[in-house]
Amino acid sequence: MQPHPQTSLDGFAHRYHLEGLTHPSLLALSGEQDGYSVDKAKRFLTFQQRINHELLRHRVIVNNPYTAWFEEGAQNAAQIKAFIIQFSVFSNQFLIAQLNKMIHADTLESMHASKEILANEIGVRYQSGKQQDSQSFMGAIEGSIDGSRFSFNAAHFEWLYNIAKELGLSFAEIGQPKHGTEATLFFCNELIRLYGGDNYQISQAASYAVENWAAAGFWGQLIRGFQKYNDRTGADLPLGFFIWHDKLEAQHAAHTQEELEELYFTQDLDEDDFIHYGNEMLDGVAAFWDGLDEQRRKLGSLH
Ligand SMILES: [Fe+2]
Repeated sequence: MQPHPQTSLDGFAHRYHLEGLTHPSLLALSGEQDGYSVDKAKRFLTFQQRINHELLRHRVIVNNPYTAWFEEGAQNAAQIKAFIIQFSVFSNQFLIAQLNKMIHADTLESMHASKEILANEIGVRYQSGKQQDSQSFMGAIEGSIDGSRFSFNAAHFEWLYNIAKELGLSFAEIGQPKHGTEATLFFCNELIRLYGGDNYQISQAASYAVENWAAAGFWGQLIRGFQKYNDRTGADLPLGFFIWHDKLEAQHAAHTQEELEELYFTQDLDEDDFIHYGNEMLDGVAAFWDGLDEQRRKLGSLH
């Protein structure tokens, strides 16, 4: 009888002291795929330790005072509006970063990966082939846009606009860069420069950093804050935008690590640069939340 493939991979990892590598990497290693060697795997595990200490402990990942405050649900209406306006500016500027990322792709496969995200943002739902896809106008959180239909109401920006309308904000009051604070625009420009930039390794470092920030739990904090706000004030803000992204991130997190390992084994990664540019991206992310924190203090009660 053949051993279960997962069990034999675990055995392989144990034999060479490679515990911690994802299964796709172990599979490539045991199959002696190009670029994969036990030596390189050991170097990767050492590098991962560095990433854990020097990148993933960034203050915006481990301690975000704004989202911690938001989660308490004690916002006033002005603070909620200000948040939606800044988030809508970010949401639109992200399209520019993502479009640039797509243009700078150096393989058809990575162009497709970037295009999936971009097209989904502007209104093409993912289709996973599962039944529940058609039940929501938001569509699935996995699958592909290929062959799927465009709808205006599937654009993420419109989900934010749904909240804005409930808050009495007009279309012209959200989304445009002129509504962004200096901090929000700094973050967006850093996204365009690093995440959407033409240097592949820098863009991968920024991407890994952004994914780990997004998976760190801030979507959940925002959702809980909004729910408390709705309960307390009787508002009925539609939270689809936040709930959908929270689900998406939970599903992304699993792939982020696999992508990093693939990058490490197949490219000649500069480890120092990866840490450096990853941190630079997270500094941009932190600037956004710091700006929101400063703004909410100004809008808060004076007591
Ligand atoms: Fe989105």
